[in-house]
Amino acid sequence: MIEQFFNWYHREGRSLPWREQPEPYPVFLSEVILQQTRVEQGLAYFHRFMDTFPTVQDLANATEEEVLKLWQGLGYYSRARNLHKAAKHLMEIHQGIFPSNFNELIKIPGVGPYTARAILAFAFSKPEVAADGNIWRVTSRFFGLNNEFPSKKTMELTQELWKDWVVQQPSVFNNAMMDLGSGICTPKQPKCEQCPLQSQCFSFPSGAWVNLPFKEKKTKVKPLTLVYLISKSDGKVLMKKRTENTIWANMYDFPEITFPSHWDSEMDIQEEISKNSRVRTVHSVAKQSFHLLSHRKIQPFFCFVDFVPILQLEREEKWIPLEQIHELPVPKIIESLIATF
Ligand code: ADE
Ligand code: SF4
Repeated sequence: MIEQFFNWYHREGRSLPWREQPEPYPVFLSEVILQQTRVEQGLAYFHRFMDTFPTVQDLANATEEEVLKLWQGLGYYSRARNLHKAAKHLMEIHQGIFPSNFNELIKIPGVGPYTARAILAFAFSKPEVAADGNIWRVTSRFFGLNNEFPSKKTMELTQELWKDWVVQQPSVFNNAMMDLGSGICTPKQPKCEQCPLQSQCFSFPSGAWVNLPFKEKKTKVKPLTLVYLISKSDGKVLMKKRTENTIWANMYDFPEITFPSHWDSEMDIQEEISKNSRVRTVHSVAKQSFHLLSHRKIQPFFCFVDFVPILQLEREEKWIPLEQIHELPVPKIIESLIATF
């Protein structure tokens, strides 16, 4: 089985420049580039960097501006900054030579456990599995596992499960897994009929791959329209202390009207507030930009109103003098409004 897998890679695997040249520096460079970038796009940048900065020393001697300029178009510029810092770190601590152990590698700026393992496997032939999302997809389907990924435990489990495979040819194993994950065992509609692992794959007979890898169900984000009734009178504002057990507990905002959907139109809101028995006059209605909480997508409206003259206050409501208002804890959603008071 293992041999079959390796043979498949030798037949079908992609030929990529960092594979032909598995020195630590090009391997590292390619891994940093490929962290959030597809191979097709990353290739050009890999060549650019290797041509401009053929060694760690050349990269370390460059200015950050030169590095960023060369990186332009790839996005996630912290990767470029870290790449540059990594080269400086390697020069300062390791005389420009990559260390060959995990603990030293992860001290390099921008190198996490995944990149460290990739360098160890590709450049030093150490039996490490560089478990990224693609390799975990193959692993979870092949063994029928629904552990959460990424997590340290799942990474270690992945390492353990493939140890007899990876030890044979660390670099071939990892490259083969990457190619299998990107070309055969793809997220939707894997090409099982072409897969070299098919005969022992847990998921193949039943089609269990549909639900693997396991994904935590995203909590549903509910829409909410939150209309704040803001009234200034005699140098005071009517505010309300939140007592419910939410993230806003013990913060102050205004009396409000809510709707369990997204209302769009200021006219509709105006009409709705005019019906409210506590409100005498509506001065203005201003729609605000959406505010995202973990379970809610809030559409706020700020409405300046006058309340009726003899207003029954609710228990948590209080007229607060404007000069005290800046000392109160308030939710972010009204921070900038409060700043104008
Ligand atoms: N994605 C991340 N590392 C890779 C590699 N070495 N080859 C192909 N794709 C990759
Ligand atoms: Fe993935 Fe299908 Fe291969 Fe199993 S047989 S590893 S599900 S492509």
